[in-house]
Amino acid sequence: MRDGLYSGDCLEFMRAMEAGTADLTLTSPPYDTLRDYKGYSFPFESIAEQLHRVTRPGCVVVWVVGDKIDGGRSLTSFRHGLHFQEVGFHMHDVMIYQKKNTPFMRCNAYTNAYEFMFVLSKGKPRTFNPLKERTVRNGMEMLVHNKGPDGVNRKALKELKREKTRTNIWAYAVGMGGTTADKIAFQHPAVFPERLAEDHILSWTNPGDLVFDPMCGSGTTCKMAMLHRRRYIGVDLSEEYIEIARKRLEAYRVAIA
Ligand SMILES: C[S@@+](CC[C@H](N)C(=O)[O-])C[C@H]1O[C@@H](n2cnc3c(N)ncnc32)[C@H](O)[C@@H]1O
Repeated sequence: MRDGLYSGDCLEFMRAMEAGTADLTLTSPPYDTLRDYKGYSFPFESIAEQLHRVTRPGCVVVWVVGDKIDGGRSLTSFRHGLHFQEVGFHMHDVMIYQKKNTPFMRCNAYTNAYEFMFVLSKGKPRTFNPLKERTVRNGMEMLVHNKGPDGVNRKALKELKREKTRTNIWAYAVGMGGTTADKIAFQHPAVFPERLAEDHILSWTNPGDLVFDPMCGSGTTCKMAMLHRRRYIGVDLSEEYIEIARKRLEAYRVAIA
């Protein structure tokens, strides 16, 4: 299968893909009929099975998913997570995608501000390039955890770290200017932040690896894969969304050539 953007059903597409070819799949499915996309087909169990088949051993699928909230939570995300284990994936991590700004309010519960990011691996992940963040007080704040049983902290000051590995809760601004600056992307109703895509691509792949998004919508995953010199394949059921993705990527292709 050649790299690029394709319109079509991802299940059919994956059935035609060679086994063990995707180094990272990063995608967000159309869960719980929350939105009326331009066409809809979501046989989850078969998709999960094919995702496992096309994933290269030692590689990762990041599944960004939430629940419909209508008086209570659907817990579709939980069902997905458990089923992924049944088809052979290892639930390497359950990460949180926190939305810094969210307009959705509930009158009798707290405002939901997150989705899950299931990090599913086929065996042990072979690539992990941990992203770092600055420590709050050059690492002083971590000393309290290093006290011995006598309550004395023996960690030498020279060992203090200015950086530490990020936590598994990632927060992003969403909406115009937050998700992306590409106006054309907002012709799609459910774009995820391009920094989210970038952060996963940098974490789980190296340049030249193949990044796959079987439900790519406006092409966020593919754009960030291209900008970071990864190969990419994006598929969406809607020809219209694929056209948006093509135009969106075209604007950057010249810049990186
Ligand atoms: C949540 S959106 C993905 C948005 C994307 N992450 C972005 O940033 O633009 C889910 C997408 O799945 C697509 N879709 C639904 N069923 C599909 C199928 N069977 N095969 C391929 N794409 C499908 C929809 O058209 C929709 O664009």
